Amino acid sequence: MNATTRTPGFRQRSVKRGAPLLIVLVAVALLGGLPWLLKPKSDPTIPPTRPEAPPLSGLQGVASCTASACHGVGSPGAEWVTWSRLDPHARAYDVLLEKSARQIEEKLNPGKGQPRPEQNEVCLNCHVAPGVMQTERSPHFDLRDGVGCESCHGPSGKWLREHARPGWVRSESSGMKDMRDLRVRVEVCMPCHVGKGDMQVDHDLIAAGHPRLRFEFAAYLANYPPHWPASKDRQRYPDLEARAWVVGELAGADAALQLLTHRAKSGTGLWPELAEYDCYACHHDLAPRSWRQQQVPAGATPGRLIFNDWYFASLPAIAPGFDVGPLAEVMSSPNPDRSRAADLAQAQLARLAQARAALSPKPLDMADRMTLLGRLADLERSSARRTWDRDTQWYLGAAALTAASPHGPPGIRQPVQGLNSLMNQAFRAGKGDSLASPRGYEPDAGQRLWQEIRDRLKK
Ligand code: HEC
Ligand code: HEC
Ligand code: HEC
Ligand code: HEC
Repeated sequence: MNATTRTPGFRQRSVKRGAPLLIVLVAVALLGGLPWLLKPKSDPTIPPTRPEAPPLSGLQGVASCTASACHGVGSPGAEWVTWSRLDPHARAYDVLLEKSARQIEEKLNPGKGQPRPEQNEVCLNCHVAPGVMQTERSPHFDLRDGVGCESCHGPSGKWLREHARPGWVRSESSGMKDMRDLRVRVEVCMPCHVGKGDMQVDHDLIAAGHPRLRFEFAAYLANYPPHWPASKDRQRYPDLEARAWVVGELAGADAALQLLTHRAKSGTGLWPELAEYDCYACHHDLAPRSWRQQQVPAGATPGRLIFNDWYFASLPAIAPGFDVGPLAEVMSSPNPDRSRAADLAQAQLARLAQARAALSPKPLDMADRMTLLGRLADLERSSARRTWDRDTQWYLGAAALTAASPHGPPGIRQPVQGLNSLMNQAFRAGKGDSLASPRGYEPDAGQRLWQEIRDRLKK
């Protein structure tokens, strides 16, 4: 049902759990047989509270949204049905009960008896709702629902009753987020999928077994089983994939720089945090004449730590003047200065803010999209060093920019699809393991495909 309503070519389902989902930009038509086709945990038939009841506040729980006349079975949108059947968020709490989660908890907090990640606030912040244990919750609220309606749409205490009445108009102060706006939507994903303040997937958590967070809004949105009509999104945004990419890249870089600043400024935690570096710079097989040695830029010292630029690799194509180079330089030095790193991050945050303010609401037409693709291609050509992360980010940009019809000049999608296979192939060795390294990565093959993209853009 959902897959067919999405844009051809830029739709995907999370095929294998734990696989590098991002790069599986392949259409998979079948939505059946998903492991989370579960029965509701909370009762979806509890009606909204009666009008004479005392005022509500805080989180009310999924059950409060799902009365059949509202968003449950049989309602016009039946949002609950899609969420409970297809949405990975509906099982975000359940995974905490699995062996993998227990092992993570055991390694993080050893010797505390039976590991109970489902009681660890650190996990619940992201696997239920940010700050959930510190927020007022109604008796109907059930942690077991995982990332529920209010985790994205906002705690409903202040608007639950009113919004069901005819003539209700959404207001900023009600706390209901206007998720129709991509700029609002993207900010909702950030704390859980990139991290914020004390909500972090740091190297300790990763080394204990947690998947590395590697968010890219456009791809994740394309992957997300929508419980809203895709046609509405298309109406609002004729340039949906491309705009989601631009908005998502700006927000992702912002969130990542804020997180780095938090890490630099907070006295607690390891500094420098290892998750700020390229994972595969440390985690790889040693081999004579490796491509890594060839990638060390002229004049650079081989063997230095490499800054993790997953969230920044494509930004110079979008935000004029954006450059994490100086920050990367400081971070690569043996004992990076905290306040210098924070200052440099701050300077780039200002550039991002300018780029966001300058983003025109006018839909990006084909010419605009090809201009952006051309800039990505230039970035690729002038980049002193290739890494799997960079290549993947550039590919995701190219995929988003050529997703909508007209895709671009004739034949433009062939090299883009070639990049997709290439990035997937890199993982062949470690299939099914979210922590596998891209051992089969071939930087040269990517270079040839980007040359093809440049050639086609010139025609
Ligand atoms: C900053 C937010 C954040 C924190 C903190 C966090 N997680 Fe996660 N977790 C995520 C996200 C996001 C994913 C999905 C990653 C993806 O696929 O991109 C995930 C995935 C997982 C998975 C893999 C799920 C699967 O279906 O394969 C497990 C297991 C897990 N988390 C357990 C934990 C445990 C246990 C804790 C606490 C010790 C924890 N998480 C803390 C955000 C977080
Ligand atoms: C992971 C975040 C997320 C979760 C969880 C979530 N939503 Fe949504 N929801 C969205 C986004 C994004 C949209 C699209 C923007 C819009 O239409 O407001 C949306 C749209 C909607 C809409 C508007 C549909 C339309 O016809 O335009 C309704 C109603 C809705 N959600 C209800 C729910 C309910 C009920 C739940 C829980 C069962 C839920 N949502 C869970 C993100 C989420
Ligand atoms: C409250 C935290 C939270 C919020 C907010 C949130 N997510 Fe998630 N998301 C998670 C967790 C945790 C998982 C992993 C669930 C699992 O594997 O069981 C996840 C999984 C996903 C997946 C599946 C990933 C995979 O590997 O299969 C997609 C796609 C996704 N989220 C998209 C989004 C988008 C888009 C938004 C914003 C509109 C969003 N999420 C908002 C916590 C969150
Ligand atoms: C500066 C080097 C360095 C960087 C960068 C780094 N790690 Fe590690 N990592 C280590 C070391 C050292 C260990 C401990 C090795 C051991 O215990 O055998 C480790 C352990 C791990 C482990 C557990 C042991 C294993 O091999 O499974 C995982 C998983 C892991 N790192 C993943 C990552 C990911 C993902 C990233 C990027 C976000 C990353 N690391 C970045 C050095 C690094």
